[in-house]
Amino acid sequence: MNGIELCATGCSLPTRRVTNDDMAKLVDTSDEWIRSRTGIGERLFCQGGETTTDLAIGAARDALERSGVPVSQVGTCIVATMTPDWASPATACLVAQELGLAQDIPCFDLSAACTGFVYGLRVAQGLLTPERPYGIVVGAEALSRVLDFTDRTTCVLFGDGAGAVVVHGVPDPPLHAVLGSVGDLGALNLAGGNTARETYLRMNGKEVFRFAVQTIPTCIRRVLDEAHASLEDVDWVVCHQANERIIDAAVRRLGASPTRFYKNMERYGNTGAASIPIALDELVRQGMLRSGMQVLCVGFGGGLTWGGALIPYRHQKRS
Ligand code: COA
Repeated sequence: MNGIELCATGCSLPTRRVTNDDMAKLVDTSDEWIRSRTGIGERLFCQGGETTTDLAIGAARDALERSGVPVSQVGTCIVATMTPDWASPATACLVAQELGLAQDIPCFDLSAACTGFVYGLRVAQGLLTPERPYGIVVGAEALSRVLDFTDRTTCVLFGDGAGAVVVHGVPDPPLHAVLGSVGDLGALNLAGGNTARETYLRMNGKEVFRFAVQTIPTCIRRVLDEAHASLEDVDWVVCHQANERIIDAAVRRLGASPTRFYKNMERYGNTGAASIPIALDELVRQGMLRSGMQVLCVGFGGGLTWGGALIPYRHQKRS
């Protein structure tokens, strides 16, 4: 299977809505500051017993049901997350169990921060077979659990949620994707469970901003070069939804029209690995991403990591 197509999307969102005014009760900030610097208006936070695993299961189930694909034909389940509930078992194993997927398929979590979903698409493509040609790729985060609510420079930016896609392995066209990383502890870090460090997300906002604004156009150009395509051939560009100004600056650098660059961080904030699949799901539900269209996904984030993938959407509800 050289290529993949998106055949269905799904999402699962937590129930607690937190506005910028709510954040201003916790730290010295304002709706005006957050909106003007980031484009974020509100975010959703887990409450009560809501977990990353619950969100991942909900999004994966939604996508699988909407695809109509029988569980016996699913060849892998990958969950991209930097906020798993458990180091082991992997979230993906629990998702597979809940959905009743076959037991002889690889299911695992993938750690590439906010680029995790794009990494997941590329990895899934390599694992699909003619016997089991479908894969589930999920991005799921409960970032509110790792935010320092005394640090106004980070806590206002992030939110929780999960999105998922079902992908179909196809012999042709090949998947056009580029992935990369450069190790940088200072730009964005979140300690693991056994490092004996604080478990808050820390970030150098300016460094990440500069990195993202350079990386998005480079990534887009490289994917398009590989596909011998131009931006005119792409129906939607779905970038990681970290910050409206990052996407706007990248669009300016590309000299592109902003109309094809989808943005929804106003309602969710930065949901890490979940932001791209949540955006894809919104596009599908609103009838804006239709069968036969091409979507270019672009991720960037902690690692530092980046990735871009050009994928056709071909809905094929089978039941
Ligand atoms: N509310 C009010 N003021 C704030 C604030 C907040 N939530 N956060 C920071 N400030 C203040 C700073 O303390 C600083 O004050 P000072 O000038 O008195 O020192 C001022 O605002 C400007 O801070 P600065 O860091 O220069 O702001 P900025 O224009 O770089 O914007 C970010 C900050 C975080 C919005 C921006 O750097 C950014 O979006 N970076 C990318 C982050 C990101 O998306 N990360 C995830 C990628 S996956």
